[in-house]
Amino acid sequence: MNKVILVTGAAKRIGKQIAKEFFAIDFNIIVHFNSSSEDAISLCNELNAIRPNSAVSIQANLDHMNDVKNLASQAMSAFGRIDGLINNASTFYPTPMGEFSEKDWDALMGSNLKAPLFLVQELHEELKRQSGFVINVTDINIKRPIKNHSIYLAAKSGLDTLTKSLAKDLAPEIRVNAIAPGAILEPPNKTWTDAEKNNILSAVPLKKMGTEIDIAKAAIFLAESPYITGQTLNIDGGKSL
Ligand SMILES: NC(=O)c1ccc[n+]([C@@H]2O[C@H](COP(=O)([O-])OP(=O)(O)OC[C@H]3O[C@@H](n4cnc5c(N)ncnc54)[C@H](OP(=O)(O)O)[C@@H]3O)[C@@H](O)[C@H]2O)c1
Repeated sequence: MNKVILVTGAAKRIGKQIAKEFFAIDFNIIVHFNSSSEDAISLCNELNAIRPNSAVSIQANLDHMNDVKNLASQAMSAFGRIDGLINNASTFYPTPMGEFSEKDWDALMGSNLKAPLFLVQELHEELKRQSGFVINVTDINIKRPIKNHSIYLAAKSGLDTLTKSLAKDLAPEIRVNAIAPGAILEPPNKTWTDAEKNNILSAVPLKKMGTEIDIAKAAIFLAESPYITGQTLNIDGGKSL
């Protein structure tokens, strides 16, 4: 029976590539999405055309606890087992001082911190049964904060700490690790100017952006490394050095 992975925010971009990479090593895929239903359905169609009954999509707004619980229970019934959870979904936008509200706090903490923890709680018994793994996707910028992103970075820092706490709490059955991407893709709905891009690349020793494949390959590595837990893998072209 194929192993099963739930990837949050998997309809597009990095999450989609992670889903495709796990599909390539014979996992069945649960594609979680919030608003990108067309992309999620099209990804599942693409995967199911190659291997029938290998992918399903589930909608959930991770800001809402009911949705988080429904996602966990629907994910459990999709293929009858779950071996891995990748907490990839993320809300990202700036919150300059004087301009944010509690609504922004809730929106940025929801998908980046609260939902990953509660999803793990909902799924931990099944992940234990399967000797499974969790991979949290954080952000290299928690080491050296970028300006005007205090709430987002606090959430991702929390997720980094959760990675270590949960690695202890869930050992020895479940391994919990994190990936901290550097400059991989422009934020959704934003195109960097050449000046902005050059500025970003000037802080990257390898002098290039990463790709979705770099993150997906790191996820596969962590999934296939039975003696690694509680670690964060920086995939950042050396930016954190
Ligand atoms: N891109 C980079 O260079 C970079 C750098 C550092 C860290 N990262 C981290 O790497 C991961 C993937 O990055 P990305 O750029 O591919 O992410 P992204 O496109 O910004 O977001 C991924 C998905 O998250 C989902 N999402 C957002 N808010 C949600 C909510 N409230 N409920 C449910 N789903 C929600 C969206 O799903 P729908 O489209 O279905 O609404 C979105 O497609 C993220 O955790 C990000 O923080 C990325």
